[in-house]
Amino acid sequence: MPSVMRVEELDKSFGHNHVLKGLNLSFPSGATTVVMGPSGCGKSVLLKHLVGLLEPDSGEVWFDDHRIDRIPEAQLGPIRRRIGFLFQQGALFDSMTVGQNVGFPLREHTQVSAEERRRKVDQMLDMVGVGGTYDRNPATLSGGQRKRVALARAIVLEPDVILYDEPTTGLDPIRSDIIGKLIARLQNALNLTSIVVTHDIQLSFRIADRMVLLHEGQVRMEGPPDLFRSSDDPEVKRFLEGRATRAELAGIQDAREDDR
Ligand SMILES: Nc1ncnc2c1ncn2[C@@H]1O[C@H](COP(=O)(O)OP(=O)(O)O)[C@@H](O)[C@H]1O
Ligand SMILES: [Mg+2]
Repeated sequence: MPSVMRVEELDKSFGHNHVLKGLNLSFPSGATTVVMGPSGCGKSVLLKHLVGLLEPDSGEVWFDDHRIDRIPEAQLGPIRRRIGFLFQQGALFDSMTVGQNVGFPLREHTQVSAEERRRKVDQMLDMVGVGGTYDRNPATLSGGQRKRVALARAIVLEPDVILYDEPTTGLDPIRSDIIGKLIARLQNALNLTSIVVTHDIQLSFRIADRMVLLHEGQVRMEGPPDLFRSSDDPEVKRFLEGRATRAELAGIQDAREDDR
């Protein structure tokens, strides 16, 4: 399977914080790859490199034949149009209606008429299960609905690739399940390449064709979900079972002492 996106020897530090340490990863086209790892391990930083929002210290970022990290910001537009990005915070504009939010990329990047835009936006809202919210103010929607509107906006330009940053964070288990099913449905309906970054293990197993576990700035393990289920790697088991390390527990010990 050809891979649309990949990173090679990707290295990134912020000051003394060495986040990505020569990361090698490819994301096969037409598949859902889930990238897992604890908070702060560099998942969002990785996604931002994929769309050219961050520049690597060294290493390469590829999208098809394009070397993203070498393309000047001003010329990234046509490539970014092919990538949908569901940001961690959803980030809807509360000064616009739902319809204006979802139609925004169409207005910015295409010449489609107002009627066509309306039709397209309604179609996308239906697809993510929030049909009929066109004229609503986003502030009046629930967290789950806002996520779905943001998702409609991320797919309105019919991208080849969609990046999800913690799509279920802040949602209860039922809403998370719905988002998981939506991700799978969109994957089938639009034949996308999906890259999902999350620490939600249930979600990961539900949607992944391929899984990747990041640990200390590198890939600890990658492969099909079954490989993870049957893994004897202590770091993989620890992550899947949600167990803290001794060092992490020592951290709360210190915090308790600070409280005194
Ligand atoms: N723009 C930035 N400036 C400085 N530090 C950053 C920046 N973005 C991320 N970091 C740091 O990089 C590390 C990884 O962050 P991030 O990718 O957001 O983690 P997560 O895996 O939870 O998404 C964290 O220690 C974070 O504080
Ligand atoms: Mg993050």
